[in-house]
Amino acid sequence: MCIFSPDSNPFRDSTGGKIDSENGRKAMSNSAAGSSRRRRIALSAFLISTVVLFATITFSAGSKPAYPTVKFAHLTDVHLQPGVGFESDRMLKYSQQLLDDAVDQINAMKGVDFVIFTGDLANTPNRSDLELFAKSASRLKVPWYWTTGNHNITLGGVSRKTFMSIMNKYNAAVKPENAHYSFMKNGFLFIALDGTISWSWTAHGYFSDKELGFLDKQLAENPKAPAVIFQHFPVVYPADSKTHEITNREAYLGVLDRHPNAKALFAGHYHVAKIDKRNNMLFVTTPSLVQYPNAFRVVTMVKKPSGVTFDIKLVETRLKDVQARSRDGASDPEQAAGSEKEIKILVEP
Ligand SMILES: [Fe+2]
Repeated sequence: MCIFSPDSNPFRDSTGGKIDSENGRKAMSNSAAGSSRRRRIALSAFLISTVVLFATITFSAGSKPAYPTVKFAHLTDVHLQPGVGFESDRMLKYSQQLLDDAVDQINAMKGVDFVIFTGDLANTPNRSDLELFAKSASRLKVPWYWTTGNHNITLGGVSRKTFMSIMNKYNAAVKPENAHYSFMKNGFLFIALDGTISWSWTAHGYFSDKELGFLDKQLAENPKAPAVIFQHFPVVYPADSKTHEITNREAYLGVLDRHPNAKALFAGHYHVAKIDKRNNMLFVTTPSLVQYPNAFRVVTMVKKPSGVTFDIKLVETRLKDVQARSRDGASDPEQAAGSEKEIKILVEP
C-alpha cells in the first residue's frame, strides 16, 4: 500500500519557494518549481512503494510452500531397556543410546512438525522403563505423539490408564484422553490407534468396535483432509508371521475401504522395513530402533491437486558398531532393512 501524501511530505520545498510573498515572479517560479518537484517526489515515492509492494508479494509467495505440507519423523519399537547386560540382534543394552541419537538427529533437522512413536516404547511392561522413555522423548524440540504396543499393554503389563498417565506426565504438548485419538496439522488428519490386547499375553492385535467406530467417524467427518493413521500393528503385513497378525483384519480393512481420504498407515511391530500400496493407500512398516538397520523414517507429505506426495527417507542411527553387531545376529538383514532407503510416491485423490 502506498502511504505517500504530498501534504505530509517531509521533503517538501526546503528552498523557501513556498513562503516568498514579496517577489511574485520568484514566488510563481518557486511555486511552479516546487509543484514540479512535489510531483517528481510523489511519482518517485509511488514507484518505490510499488516496487516494495511487488517485492513483498514475490518474497511472500517464494518463502511459503505452494501447497500444504507436513514433515514428521516415525520411530517405532524403541524397546527401551538399558539395564540389559547382554547383546543379541535386538540391541536392548544400547537402547538408550540409540534413542538419544535419534532424538539428537531429529532435533538438528529443519522443518520437522512432529514425531510419532508407534508402540513398544519400552521392552518390558513395567512403569520405570516407560517413565525413562517419556523423559527421553521429552528432549525432542517438537511435539511427540505415541501409540501403544503389545510389549507394554498386555496381560500382566500396565493398564491403558497408567500408560497414558505416564506419557501425559512428561509430554508437555500432547495429552490425549484415550489411547486412540486424532489431531490436525496443515489440513492433514492424523489418527493414532491402539489395538493392544490387555486380557492376554499375545503379539496379536485386535481393534474393538469402539475403536473402529472412532476411525470410521474421524474419516467420515473430515472427507477433504488426507488422513494418515499411526498404530503398532501393520494391516498389510510386511512379512509372514501368524503370531503377529490382526485378529479382525477384515473388519478393519472394511472401514478403510469406505473412505478414500485414508491415504497412509504407518506401523511397526514386525521389526522390518516395507512399503506397500493397496487400494490407493500406502502401508508403511518402519524397522525397530534397536534392531538392524537401527533406523527411523522421515516423511514429508505435500497435498497437491494431483494427490498427496510422500517423500519417505530411512535414517540410520549413528552407532555403527552396534548396527554392525545387530546385522551379524539378524536372521534376514536384507528383509529387515527393506529395499527403499528413499522413495517418492504419489497417492492420488
Ligand atoms: Fe516390537
